[in-house]
Amino acid sequence: MPTQEHLTVTVKETRSEAAGVRSLVLAAREGGSLPAWTPGAHIDVVLSRDLVRQYSLSSGTEEAGWRIAVLREPDGRGGSAYLHDRVEAGDTLLVSAPRNTFALDLGTPRLVFVAGGIGITPILPMLAAAERAGSDWQLLYLGRSAESMAFTEELTRYGDRVRLHRDDVSGVADLAAELDGMGAAHAHVYACGPAGLLASVQGYADAHPTSRLTLERFAAAPEGYARDGDRPFTVETADGQEIEVGAGQSIVDALTQAGVRTLTSCREGVCGTCETPVLGGTPDHRDQLLSEEERAAGDVMMICVSRCQGDRLVLDV
Ligand code: FES
Repeated sequence: MPTQEHLTVTVKETRSEAAGVRSLVLAAREGGSLPAWTPGAHIDVVLSRDLVRQYSLSSGTEEAGWRIAVLREPDGRGGSAYLHDRVEAGDTLLVSAPRNTFALDLGTPRLVFVAGGIGITPILPMLAAAERAGSDWQLLYLGRSAESMAFTEELTRYGDRVRLHRDDVSGVADLAAELDGMGAAHAHVYACGPAGLLASVQGYADAHPTSRLTLERFAAAPEGYARDGDRPFTVETADGQEIEVGAGQSIVDALTQAGVRTLTSCREGVCGTCETPVLGGTPDHRDQLLSEEERAAGDVMMICVSRCQGDRLVLDV
């Protein structure tokens, strides 16, 4: 559902970047400028009333246009196919302002980046920022084959700071050995890619408490978000409407059933589209996005997965 915060942009250019990967450069309309953003940010692309997709910005933060890269997903709901087959230069798209749930902290002495497949996209502007800041950094970029790995050409400028791992050449990567070799045990590690890769990086970080880890997920944690013992509770809307949320029901579903419109995309607590201000009550956070500090503050929540610690939440919906 588009809101006033969405903006219309023009597709300035499209390119094939790798097998099944198409990039689109988006520009402000009529010579205007796009909002500023920081490395790691993503935008929502509104494809229809019910179809919103997130794409990381992969251009430089100082560039006039926003570049997104779209992996064709044959089993998806049609979002990637639409952006591959139906959108051309000169067309317009409705997008959100950039949101950053994968922010880069340049205050750490060593940075290690791990990207799997299309997970390279948010990492690219992070590398440029780390390079500009004179940080000590390295990237491990894993892919199935050279043809499937986008933006490798752009990465050549960083020389041996970048390590490419191709499964078709070297077999499955020994991730722990790779991370050890990059000094990840004493670094801030940023990882983006398929769930299996992220689980392995998480396992490495758990075994090395001297490391710090920030993940960007494209899918929910494998264990899901529902828990035994989930209880019903009441959501009160900003205008005083009271809506019951069943034990096995999400807040989004309860609100939709009651005719209250919400904006959602992943419905798995990983994209941030449904972030909602909390006016009262204590959320039971189950998303993959909010930091410990944000959870403790409790003033926003992801209503597609999170619940209530008590009997009542008051939400700004
Ligand atoms: S819809 Fe993606 S986090 Fe809720």
